[in-house]
Amino acid sequence: MMRKVLIAPSILSADFSKLGQEIKDIEKAGADWIHIDVMDGHFVPNITVGPVVIKSIRPFTKLPFDVHLMIDKPEECVEAFVKAGSDIITFHIEAQENPGEIIKLIKYYKKKVGVSIRPKTELKAIEPILPMVDMVLIMTVEPGFAGQEFILDCLPKIEELRKIFNKDIEVDGGVNESTASDCLANGANIIVAGTSVFGTKDYASAIKRLKGGS
Ligand code: DX5
Ligand code: ZN
Repeated sequence: MMRKVLIAPSILSADFSKLGQEIKDIEKAGADWIHIDVMDGHFVPNITVGPVVIKSIRPFTKLPFDVHLMIDKPEECVEAFVKAGSDIITFHIEAQENPGEIIKLIKYYKKKVGVSIRPKTELKAIEPILPMVDMVLIMTVEPGFAGQEFILDCLPKIEELRKIFNKDIEVDGGVNESTASDCLANGANIIVAGTSVFGTKDYASAIKRLKGGS
């Protein structure tokens, strides 16, 4: 089955002094989802945004908010992220001893649930919960910062996952035109991109190129 390719620009690389306008511009440029990186300075060595910022940008677009939680104890914050306007909530398996609980909680709020794995985490860590999630987010850099280089060793993991998982596979980290096409060829269908979209002057062409257009 051919899956529709979706592009989820990561606002981590946007200009935060005019975030509302950046979101409007990226929607106009053809973005499908807005990817929001939440970091707590514990799970990853960086601190970004939380529910307050998500709530303040919610009126600027109707596109789904794809919220990537790189935080410890994500289950304690699910309600706040739901109320702020999240549509898809992704937690890290490495931050969760009891993933069944947080999955139930996200579903209770009728939101889509994703699970993410770091580059060094093997697929077997998430295999038991695959039937319970809507999406797997495969990190292709160590989570924490935008602008890093794509780790090519992650490609076989995408291919392996596609053999056993027929829902959404999202890739995140160091994705540009060339690595996006590798990810799509290996079975991913959702592309997160920070630098390769917000780092350019023409967002629409950048999105088109990531989708495989010229
Ligand atoms: C990294 C974040 C990514 C990152 C993507 O921890 O999860 O979403 O900001 O940025 P680029 O595309 O520049 O690697
Ligand atoms: Zn992310």
